[in-house]
Amino acid sequence: NDYVPENLVDINIKYATKEGIKLVDYANDDFIKLCNDANKEGLDIKAISGYRSYTYQTSLYNNYVKQDGVTKADTYSARPGYSEHQTGLAVDVAGSNYQFDQFKNSKEYKWLKDNAYKYGFIIRYPEEKENITLYQYESWHIRYVGKDIATNIFNKDITFDEYYVKYIDN
Ligand code: DAL
Ligand code: ZN
Repeated sequence: NDYVPENLVDINIKYATKEGIKLVDYANDDFIKLCNDANKEGLDIKAISGYRSYTYQTSLYNNYVKQDGVTKADTYSARPGYSEHQTGLAVDVAGSNYQFDQFKNSKEYKWLKDNAYKYGFIIRYPEEKENITLYQYESWHIRYVGKDIATNIFNKDITFDEYYVKYIDN
């Protein structure tokens, strides 16, 4: 509960919807490359949420529970201490003309789905994998795992959960 990643940096405002959104420095470096290359294709990808502290995740989760009840909240929000946003390696994104929950219909998402791995990111909670990740489909949530692992996960079309069980835990 007091874990804070080292080397958090602010995502430059050019690549974020507001000031002060943070990522771990090496994830930020590749996120910027991703955004710049998307931009060359006429696409606009920006961070809307990055690192979240344990305290912040606590207030988020508690609000969701108040709003929707525990069972529902657990399908879309990690409990405090369980969100990968606390690692500083996860970033929620949106295209300029879309709310994050409409992101799946955007040309930005279409590109991101096919290209994120080249920059070390994966779509962490994919469609039709809800029974494996135990979270709803989140087109907007990408997680940095580095290029080798991201490529492996992309080529095998598996989730990080499956990768973890097969290659790390095993
Ligand atoms: N929405 C993701 C699961 C989180 O809260 O970390
Ligand atoms: Zn997220």
